[in-house]
Amino acid sequence: MKKLTALLMGLMVMISFTACGSESTEAPQTSGTGSSSSSSQQDSEPAAAAGDGSTLVVYFSATGNTEEAANYIAELTGGDLFELEPADPYTDEDLNYSNDDSRVSQEHENEELRNVELTASTVDNWDEYDTVFIGYPIWWGIAAWPVDTFVEANDFTGKTVIPFCTSASSGLGDSGELLAELAGTGDWQEGHRFSSRVSEDDVQTWLDELGF
Ligand SMILES: Cc1cc2nc3c(=O)[nH]c(=O)nc-3n(C[C@H](O)[C@H](O)[C@H](O)COP(=O)(O)O)c2cc1C
Repeated sequence: MKKLTALLMGLMVMISFTACGSESTEAPQTSGTGSSSSSSQQDSEPAAAAGDGSTLVVYFSATGNTEEAANYIAELTGGDLFELEPADPYTDEDLNYSNDDSRVSQEHENEELRNVELTASTVDNWDEYDTVFIGYPIWWGIAAWPVDTFVEANDFTGKTVIPFCTSASSGLGDSGELLAELAGTGDWQEGHRFSSRVSEDDVQTWLDELGF
């Protein structure tokens, strides 16, 4: 009888540890300026699992800031770079958002004009990449629309997708979620906003957090 009681108590102790263990593995959601998570991200681990295979860093940059972030990410992860280049490049005049008649202002006003053709919207060896960083400047609080063309043109099934942006002051906002919705496939992770004057240290810190 004593043996049976001891056995039962032992079992109860084991069960209570198992329960505690499963609580502690729940990853807390990070928050703060410039951070956001997509619905698919909420159930998954942080991107620590990413980086096990080939990494691609896709970006659009109108004035070079996002390109700088993309270069650091590629350098620090050993990833390949792919620049999204509009077939009709944006001039300084085009980018003048203070002018209601400028190209960006017109495109902002009229969504139908945002269908920006790219010189290339598909990537060689796409199937070999399992982690895809997607970078863009924030335009009027959302991802600069030339990235939409790329996102719509590709199947992200089986890929970990990590958005990043640069901006003067806005956060990432809903930009990552909106792109995830547009894509409809892929495991979109929490994104990150960098300041327009992004440094290699900023990028390194973020990549460390992601487990790269
Ligand atoms: C058309 C346009 C709209 C912008 N809208 C915003 C904005 O809503 N919020 C913000 O913080 N910065 C905004 N900016 C500033 C850019 O996001 C910022 O300068 C960014 O780093 C530019 O990246 P790039 O050099 O890669 O193009 C805007 C810039 C442009 C040209």
